Amino acid sequence: MSAQHEVGRRRTFAIISHPDAGKTTLTEKLLLYGGVIQLAGAVKAKRGRASAVSDWMEMERERGISITTSVLAFPYHGLKLNLLDTPGHADFSEDTYRTLHAVDGAVMLLDCAKGVESQTRKLFRVCRQRSIPIFTFVNKLDRPGRDAFELVGEVESVLGIGVYPITWPIFRSGTFRGVYHRLRKRVYLFDKEHANSSSGSGAERPPVEVTGIDDPLLREALDDRGYDQLRHDADLLDAAGDGFHREKFLAGELSPMFFGSAVNNFGLEAFLETFCELMPPPGPRESDQGPIDPAGSEFSGFVFKIQANMDKAHRDRVAFVRICSGKLVKGMKVHHVRSGRDLRLANPTQFLARDRSTVEESYAGDVVGLHDTGTFEIGDTLTGGSSFAFEGIPSFAPEHFRRLALVDPMRRKQFSTGIEQLAQEGTVQLYRPPAGRGGDLVLGALGQLQFEVVKYRLEAEYGVEVRVEAVPWQLARWASRVDGAPLAPEELAGAVEGQVVLDVRDRLVVLFDREWALRTAEKFHPELLFAETASGVVVRAA
Ligand code: G4P
Repeated sequence: MSAQHEVGRRRTFAIISHPDAGKTTLTEKLLLYGGVIQLAGAVKAKRGRASAVSDWMEMERERGISITTSVLAFPYHGLKLNLLDTPGHADFSEDTYRTLHAVDGAVMLLDCAKGVESQTRKLFRVCRQRSIPIFTFVNKLDRPGRDAFELVGEVESVLGIGVYPITWPIFRSGTFRGVYHRLRKRVYLFDKEHANSSSGSGAERPPVEVTGIDDPLLREALDDRGYDQLRHDADLLDAAGDGFHREKFLAGELSPMFFGSAVNNFGLEAFLETFCELMPPPGPRESDQGPIDPAGSEFSGFVFKIQANMDKAHRDRVAFVRICSGKLVKGMKVHHVRSGRDLRLANPTQFLARDRSTVEESYAGDVVGLHDTGTFEIGDTLTGGSSFAFEGIPSFAPEHFRRLALVDPMRRKQFSTGIEQLAQEGTVQLYRPPAGRGGDLVLGALGQLQFEVVKYRLEAEYGVEVRVEAVPWQLARWASRVDGAPLAPEELAGAVEGQVVLDVRDRLVVLFDREWALRTAEKFHPELLFAETASGVVVRAA
């Protein structure tokens, strides 16, 4: 098969949601529909353990390196869907954001009773920065929830994106009974009896084709009240919106919305079919030498995540690479742009559903795992020989802060090496006082679990015991001058009520103990910029 054909059938995406909205359930159903798993409940097997910390360590030990859940690749109607996992719950971390830099689109999953929740909002913002297409799936329609119009309004106003409902819920005697597909003019009715059949699409009867909302067939399929309601809603929708604009969707400005119930297999077929139709294959990706064509012949990709092994016996790591062009073949030689060195990919790993196996060949849109002994950093570019670099992955302001206290002062050197390496790897952010100023090393992370990871790894890999202690900081912002002129740490310290520190790349950061202190600094110093993200620095060999 030609590379063009292979790239054209790949769809690489992530599901973004707040914990409990149904991401695990939806993932599982997608695998069921893809024919990859036969039994509901398979994905959920890992749930229900006592705590996320022990869960994570146990899993790491069991599996060596737990990579299988990082990407699920599965076939669907001739396409190859690559679903990248965005860790949530306690393991929410920068990796969650970084993963969104490796996808070409996202499905935003909402609980119909809760609407847009905090974690969804954060993840959405990252997608928005990249202008990638975003689908919205409103879940749990089988339960009492908010009015569908209200949910459309909330997504539009809270997230600032246009919404086009492609399916619309149909109720019968107040119970969710189906969806009307506005573009296809089809009705999908659900059969509660088969709702929990494990064969995937068992809950849905074959869709009824109708010519439009006035079709007598549609009237027949519904009771009077349900029909009147749907008609009324459809008229309102038609009057309110101006059609579905594919270009706006592709630019990330308009989100097609779907309704359903993942656990009951309701509305999934209508969603999946349309998803496959609309979701774009990998497109060109920006580099410092212009856009790189995914169907181009030269291999290229970038590292978006590095996962360390928790098992002392295996201190290796896995670097996850998103392929952006060309073909990756086992044993091939690639150019590591940052170091200027060439490497042989002896054992690239790919993921098919829940298993991993050695890659024979992979194309743009795929994700492969590379065995790493410390060569790779987040954002590194690999090519077939050229020296271009993809745009770096930005750093994101952490939301939790801690200080590490060394238990045995004699281990200071190992401590410094260890913590520096973990920060370089992107496990946590590390802040140190500028030269000549006293102060503690402060760690920052997006999720609290990261501190446990650091403590565990310092002990396991560097033989350093530490205590994790609280600090007053609540917010971190990268500081710079609006006009781009240099900014000295002393000057900044005089201007803000917060602690001035440097990150691992020597960028100036201010730690604030309250939102108010940040707002005050912004108000009184319009000449300064306090940024929530810092652009990824693309470093190349001289
Ligand atoms: P998450 O990965 O986003 O955190 O969510 P997950 O799929 O684990 O779902 C969270 C809870 O919501 C689960 O219930 C799940 O069964 C339920 N759920 C998912 N989709 C639907 C739906 O369409 N309708 C209804 N009513 N519930 C749904 P749980 O009680 O926490 O777990 P479990 O005992 O069911 O496994």
